[in-house]
Amino acid sequence: MQKKEIKKLYLKKTKLFQKYNKNYFEKSKPLVTDSIFDDLKREIIELEKKYKYLKSDHSPSINIGFKPSKNFKKAIHRVRMLSLSNVFSKDDLVNFEKKVCNFLNLKHGAKIEYSVEPKIDGISASLNYKNGILISGLSRGDGNEGELITENLKTIKDIPKKIDIQGFPNDIDIRGEVFITNKDFQKIKENFANPRNAASGSLRQKNSNETKKIPLKFIAYNYGYLEELKINKQSEFLEKLQLWGFKVSKFNKIISGIGNLIKNHEEIENKRYELDYDVDGLVYKINSIELQNRLGFLSNSPRWATAHKFSAVTSSSKILNIEIQVGRTGALTPVAKIKPVNVGGVIVANASLHNEDEIKRKDIRVGDTVKIERAGDVIPHVISVDLKKRSKNSAKYIFPKKCPSCGSKVLKEYNNQTKKYDAVKRCSSEGYLCEKIAIEKIKHFISKDAFNIDGLGKKVIENFWSLKLIRSPQDIFNLNYDKISKLDGWGKLSVSNLRYAIDKSKQILLERFIFALGIRHIGQENAKLLSYNIKSLDNLLKIDASYEFSNFLDIDGIGETQINSLKNFFSQEINLKIIEELARYVKILKSDENKNGKFKNITFMFTGKLDGISRAEAKSMIEKNSGKIVSSVSNKLNYLIAGEKPTNKKIIKAKELSVKIISQKDFIKLLN
Ligand code: IVH
Repeated sequence: MQKKEIKKLYLKKTKLFQKYNKNYFEKSKPLVTDSIFDDLKREIIELEKKYKYLKSDHSPSINIGFKPSKNFKKAIHRVRMLSLSNVFSKDDLVNFEKKVCNFLNLKHGAKIEYSVEPKIDGISASLNYKNGILISGLSRGDGNEGELITENLKTIKDIPKKIDIQGFPNDIDIRGEVFITNKDFQKIKENFANPRNAASGSLRQKNSNETKKIPLKFIAYNYGYLEELKINKQSEFLEKLQLWGFKVSKFNKIISGIGNLIKNHEEIENKRYELDYDVDGLVYKINSIELQNRLGFLSNSPRWATAHKFSAVTSSSKILNIEIQVGRTGALTPVAKIKPVNVGGVIVANASLHNEDEIKRKDIRVGDTVKIERAGDVIPHVISVDLKKRSKNSAKYIFPKKCPSCGSKVLKEYNNQTKKYDAVKRCSSEGYLCEKIAIEKIKHFISKDAFNIDGLGKKVIENFWSLKLIRSPQDIFNLNYDKISKLDGWGKLSVSNLRYAIDKSKQILLERFIFALGIRHIGQENAKLLSYNIKSLDNLLKIDASYEFSNFLDIDGIGETQINSLKNFFSQEINLKIIEELARYVKILKSDENKNGKFKNITFMFTGKLDGISRAEAKSMIEKNSGKIVSSVSNKLNYLIAGEKPTNKKIIKAKELSVKIISQKDFIKLLN
């Protein structure tokens, strides 16, 4: 089609849209059904996406106007906004409590009290009050840094602007969920996929008058930074919130015992659709603040809380095709492309088939009508095939023997621990030689927990790759901005924002740098452990195939699997070259966390059973004070903590090397 014809078609559609829209909103007399209206809206947006020159004041993306702004100022959260781990079943929940008990060295089945709260599916926000005045409000952002959306938050009635109550802390961050009720959502549902999107879109309007038009609500449930407040329990804090004038959920409860938690979960799940807002599960928080403090945090979530999700919603649809996705580690994941279907408020067009075995077991074929399940934010998957609807000439699905991206052989790995072959098939070409793997590696490199480059999302990486602007992670630091500024959708401002974000990302912690390299089995926690040990970029640059990798075995947490993966990674020239080139651009920041604790540069090791506390907790106490835990006795070890029934060999070796051997009591003394 010619440009002129496209414009004409677009104009026709937007005019029609304007007419439908007016009748719906202003006259409350819809001219067409919801689905015709939605289709038209989608067609217009598709056209706009494809042909960037199309613009109209009547476009659904402007007219309805809830396009979130990218231009908010950012600010660092004084206390990170974390996510929650999930449990889906009773077994998962039992496991969660077991881990808590292990960490706290309590007997399994010990009475643990939980603050149980509905998990509202909205947008979280953090409100800072100084001397009772609402000073600023931040969105969650990436958890470290959020957008300053103070003015928009101030339009929400449930959020007190001034709190003049004795005992209200001088400086506190109150956290909670911004959402829209289902009733209010009905009025604007044409414009958004679900209530959550509506809340998010409206909260991130540039003009707070737009936010005001949508009746947003706020329920408070937590605190971030907090000064001078003595509370012993989460439930007490919830009471305080109410006293200070915040809304809290009326479904909050205090419960102990797995059986009671499950019973309550069933009750609320049954009531779920009666509630006037979307709830996707329950949050269980250990009620005692003292225990919360002892339990502490993992990289991204607290050990003291979890979300118990409600069961999934299902729908059925037809498989149009089965495609193979190639992941960062070469894993080949079959994905069913299905006829788009609404599964509990979200339009689903892809469903995971997990792996070849799963396809075989369920005998899933192209053309089949299947049941799709979606639970919370988990990727939808196919649960079963409706055999009655299968066509006679359908053929069994044959999993490819070669990588669809690079043509390399497809392999299954043997797992030494389970003594079985993995269910997952992988592309045998490691690293950057396979196009799809390379793209995924670069996406990982720029991701939130790695280089965290604003404005450089997954789609942009794919676009830059197809334009040959990038082939390797280091190319990001040497982009051709001239060329980018001439691309569709890139203006002067967005290019200069990108440039700024990329420059800013060059200052990075060593642990993030190591994580960004995307070494298999080296996640955030392991990257952190390795960074303590490797210490500097110079040291990292010295690692190659001849390195004594078994040195890393001293690190508590690094095992054979990680060592093999590191060996493999550092024996590939291409990886060494990437690190070398990256080193020219980056500046490694000193980690401010744990830097100056009393155990700085001191190493510990345990042998034997501790009394009253678990090893995990003792380990976390050492780490909180900047100490390190190693897993073998060497002359690098400062203290061997000997509990009950220590291993003789370790004691003898420690004596030989004149390592100090201390008891648990001595350790507690050191700590205090
Ligand atoms: S507590 C570190 N309590 O769930 C504690 N979160 O996956 C995390 N959420 O981003 C927050 N209701 O948006 C907490 N009663 C509740 C919640 C809740 C909903 C959301 C919140 C958070 C996400 C965590």
